[in-house]
Amino acid sequence: MVKLEQIQTIGVIGAGLMGHGIAQVFAIKGYQVKLYDNDSVILKSAPERIRNNLQIFLKMGLVAPSEIEDCLNHIQLSSTFKEMCEGIEVAIEAVSEDLDLKRAIFLDLERLTQPQTILCSNTSGISIRLINEKLQYKERVVGTHFWNPPHIVPCVEVIKSQFTGEEVFYTVVELMERVGKQPVRVLRDVPGFLGNRLQHALWREAISLVEKGIAEPEDIDRVVKYGFGLRLPFLGPLETADLAGLDLTYEIHQYLFPDLENCSTPSPFLKTLVDQKTIGIKTKKGFYHWTDESIRETIQKRDKALLKIMEVIKGLNQEK
Ligand SMILES: NC(=O)c1ccc[n+]([C@@H]2O[C@H](COP(=O)([O-])OP(=O)(O)OC[C@H]3O[C@@H](n4cnc5c(N)ncnc54)[C@H](O)[C@@H]3O)[C@@H](O)[C@H]2O)c1
Repeated sequence: MVKLEQIQTIGVIGAGLMGHGIAQVFAIKGYQVKLYDNDSVILKSAPERIRNNLQIFLKMGLVAPSEIEDCLNHIQLSSTFKEMCEGIEVAIEAVSEDLDLKRAIFLDLERLTQPQTILCSNTSGISIRLINEKLQYKERVVGTHFWNPPHIVPCVEVIKSQFTGEEVFYTVVELMERVGKQPVRVLRDVPGFLGNRLQHALWREAISLVEKGIAEPEDIDRVVKYGFGLRLPFLGPLETADLAGLDLTYEIHQYLFPDLENCSTPSPFLKTLVDQKTIGIKTKKGFYHWTDESIRETIQKRDKALLKIMEVIKGLNQEK
């Protein structure tokens, strides 16, 4: 199997929201990237979207203008899937979240890449085992779950399926470190991996609180943003539990858990909203009302805030 030092060229399949950002992550660190999307309009727009991403970095003094050009020069748009497969040591699939589609892509990857090429999937939650079970060489497939926006958020969950080779798994973990990411090792291929299990446990309770009329969406978001969420970039839940005391945690769980939402199906309230096409920014109404301007502004502010928070954390870690 390919070794870390041999990796020079990364193929990225899918140039949508995630794929173009993933291409940027590798290109800015000097890897050659071959990007492919079967929608030529999306593919051709990728360099401009990457340039726009990097403009925010530039405004914040995080890159020099020459680095933007250099990054873009490292990205080659592939006009066919076959051409993308040639000469790559690692492939990262970021096509739409559809099991049959991903299976077909991996069968083609197995056929068209060198046998030692490492094959990664950016699926948000589909089991890696299901994606690769029809393959002949299953040991070279690993999950690499980047978080949105991938060019900013450091965490990448690296997921080991029951078939993934140990060497492949650790090569990918080290590759992510090389491009400045914070890889997280997920040792078993469970639905939602780590991040989405934690995130959706929170969302289940948040949606239930709205449904029960206990608070307005704004206040639920505010208690996270201005309360416990403030410490989350620095202290995880288990560190916080240790600081609070596991004995206290145990006491709280005794009286609180019987009252927490524990439904094992999506909330009927959420289903009603979806049926009414109240689905968030796509229809401009969800828990909030949105306009084109408020959507643009929120995403821009989010990206700036994330970059600033990361600078603060970096500074704190260097102080240690
Ligand atoms: N959006 C998120 O927040 C997020 C976060 C983490 C992971 N993911 C996962 O990343 C993957 C991509 O999600 P996205 O949000 O970028 O979706 P997207 O719809 O923005 O992009 C998917 C791209 O795949 C392309 N595509 C579809 N079929 C293809 C094919 N046969 N060959 C080549 N390209 C093809 C589409 O044209 C599209 O550009 C999904 O598995 C998703 O679950 C998404």
